[in-house]
Amino acid sequence: MSPEQVVVIGASGFGRECLDVLEAMAEAGSPVDVAGVVDDGPSELNLGRLAARGVAYLGTVDDWLVASEPMARYVLGIGRPQVRRRVAVRLDEAGARPFTAVHPSATFGSRVATGEGLVVCAGAAISTNARLGRHVHINPNATIGHDSVLRDFVSVNPGAVVSGEVIIRGGTLVGASATILQGLSVGEGTIVGAGSVVTRDVPDAAVVKGVPGQWDRT
Ligand SMILES: CC(C)(COP(=O)(O)OP(=O)(O)OC[C@H]1O[C@@H](n2cnc3c(N)ncnc32)[C@H](O)[C@@H]1OP(=O)(O)O)[C@@H](O)C(=O)NCCC(=O)NCCS
Repeated sequence: MSPEQVVVIGASGFGRECLDVLEAMAEAGSPVDVAGVVDDGPSELNLGRLAARGVAYLGTVDDWLVASEPMARYVLGIGRPQVRRRVAVRLDEAGARPFTAVHPSATFGSRVATGEGLVVCAGAAISTNARLGRHVHINPNATIGHDSVLRDFVSVNPGAVVSGEVIIRGGTLVGASATILQGLSVGEGTIVGAGSVVTRDVPDAAVVKGVPGQWDRT
């Protein structure tokens, strides 16, 4: 089987972490090949970082959509959920196809459901019966508890703990080392601050900080 050509959208930190995931998959024997990186405005620093690791910069999203024939699949290497969602809408309209990237060291329980474009980084653990939507990002060493539901474009940053039976609505970011206690729900477009502990249900568009987590009520 010839390897699947995959581009990463985004030359910044998370984009290059996605390259690590894809390269580890290839090393472990998955039929995947990194075709290069696409970015609408990469910095000189990040272009240098790509060149140093021998990865081609393929131009802007529009350049890639015009040039790619047949089209490679893509991974969204963009950490911020709202930006990721905007780019995904453009790519969906153009008929581009997402790729699911899972680091070989990540672990999965039974009956986990995954959406297109999921990225799971090294050391992450997804427990039984979890459901992860489209373009969800699970960063290194984050854990997702049993029966939890993460809707589209959720990001879980490094080391965060999502306990069992939690629901996280679309476009929410769970900060590094935050914890969400079991059975709670977190609204859409919310940010759970790094290190915060969520002990109550959180509404949409909140910014949660501290232990126990607090947010402004409007
Ligand atoms: C919660 C967060 C979104 C707040 O961002 P912000 O609104 O720009 O906050 P600011 O940096 O302006 O800080 C405002 C206040 O909140 C406090 N604060 C910021 N983040 C906090 C956090 N995670 N927990 C507790 N307090 C926090 C600051 O100390 C400051 O307090 P002060 O007003 O008493 O001085 C952000 O700090 C955060 O934690 N984001 C997650 C980032 C992450 O996971 N990074 C790792 C990437 S790998």
